Formats: sequence, C-alpha cells, structure tokens
Amino acid sequence: MSITKESELIGMEKISAVVGTTLKLMREYAKVGMSTKELDEYGGSILKSYGAKSAPYETYGFPGYACISVNEEAAHGIPSEKRILKEGDLVNIDVSAELNGFWSDNGGSFVLGKDIHNHQPLVDASKNILRKAISNIKGGVKISEIGYLIETEAKKSGFKVIKNLAGHGVGRSLHEEPENILNYRVKSNRERFKVNTTVAIETFISTNSTVAVELHDGWTLVGNKGGYVTQHEQTILITNKIPVILTESNEIWN
Ligand code: CO
Ligand code: CO
Repeated sequence: MSITKESELIGMEKISAVVGTTLKLMREYAKVGMSTKELDEYGGSILKSYGAKSAPYETYGFPGYACISVNEEAAHGIPSEKRILKEGDLVNIDVSAELNGFWSDNGGSFVLGKDIHNHQPLVDASKNILRKAISNIKGGVKISEIGYLIETEAKKSGFKVIKNLAGHGVGRSLHEEPENILNYRVKSNRERFKVNTTVAIETFISTNSTVAVELHDGWTLVGNKGGYVTQHEQTILITNKIPVILTESNEIWN
C-alpha cells in the first residue's frame, strides 16, 4: 500500500510489531517432541491477545493460524498433531495477520536444536540474501534488479531459487501490487519500487528444486526436485534511503 498519512504508518507499525513478535515467540517456543499443531495454537493465542486476525485462517480458509513447514515442505505447511518436531529439523514459520484494516507478513526458517543434518548453511544463505536484497531497495530501484541480486547471491552460495514463489505488496490486504517480487530477474519487468509503499520481501532459497508444487492436500508446497527450501521474509517501508524494516521485532537475523 501507499502510505499517505501518519495514521496509516501507525497502523502498519502496529500489525507489523504483532506479527514480528508472534514469529519470534513461536520460534522460541518450538521444542523437540512438540507437534506443529501445538506450536500453531500457541501462535494463534498470541495473535488473539493483540486482537489481530490470522490472515491465512480468516481470509484463505487455511487450516491453521500460521504456516509451519518442516523439512521437505517448502511452504504453506499445515499445522498437524501428527507432525512432531525432531532434533535438527529445518522449520519455517510464516505469520501474517490483520489488525484495524492493516496487514503485515513475515517469516523465517531455522534449525531446531542441534544442526545434525547440516541445514545451517542454507538457512544462513537465505538470511544473508534477504538482508542484502532489502538494503539495496529504495524508491526507483527496479523490482527485476532485486530479483537478479537474489538469484546471483543464491548461485554464489551454491544454491538455487524457487521461481514460482514471490514477495508482494502488503498493507490493505495480504497480497497487493506489486504482486510478484520474484527471486530472479524477469528482464521485461520494468516495475520499480516506490517511496512510501509497504512491501513484503521474501527469499526462497533451495538446494535442488526451482519450482514449488502443491500436494494433494491443496496447501502444502514441496520442491519439484526434492531437497530443502528456506524462506525469510520482512515487511518493509520503502524510502529514499535504506528501507524501514517494520517487522524487525521478529529478530530473524539472529
Ligand atoms: Co509470509
Ligand atoms: Co508473503
């Protein structure tokens, strides 16, 4: 959305702090032996305590308050009593919600407990690439340029990008213009980032796959060639200098 008055900025700051804090607390709460359903219900109760509504649950009819994707799941993992977290699991939590008509979105991947499967390099690459991408965004920068940066940095780290998942505008709804902030360059895309707009920037860095495909449950996405996918996401306000990271209370850089 385009921020035109202070009340809109305050609205975006509030919901961004809520989704950021929820993500941070969920990550801290995640333990070996816990089901992803239990983790999700904890997150749902935090959102509720702030009066916020889970975007996937309320708007998309998703069977959970947050998307929790484990190991081979690339995104949109459904919280389940049957999915029990194990040592060394690669976990992604994505929290998006609405408060007073404002929407914000954030997510992060992490290794649960000891990194016995060596997922940390993939997690670190995703984190570092998101940080670099955000620090290169300002009003007037081409969206395709940031896609090029993400793809190039992924390659340099020995990884790939998922081509059919993307960042997006956010604010008055969860997904708005610009609709596809892709992790690679589409040369024909001349769209530019605009000052005073809010967007969600997200990485999808992978070991093997380049396309996310949906499972028969109608939600869960997995890589077309298997392997693992990591995602980190922040909602930001674009300025003439470096962006303001509205969801930074998530502490996903740590
Ligand atoms: Co998200
Ligand atoms: Co998003």
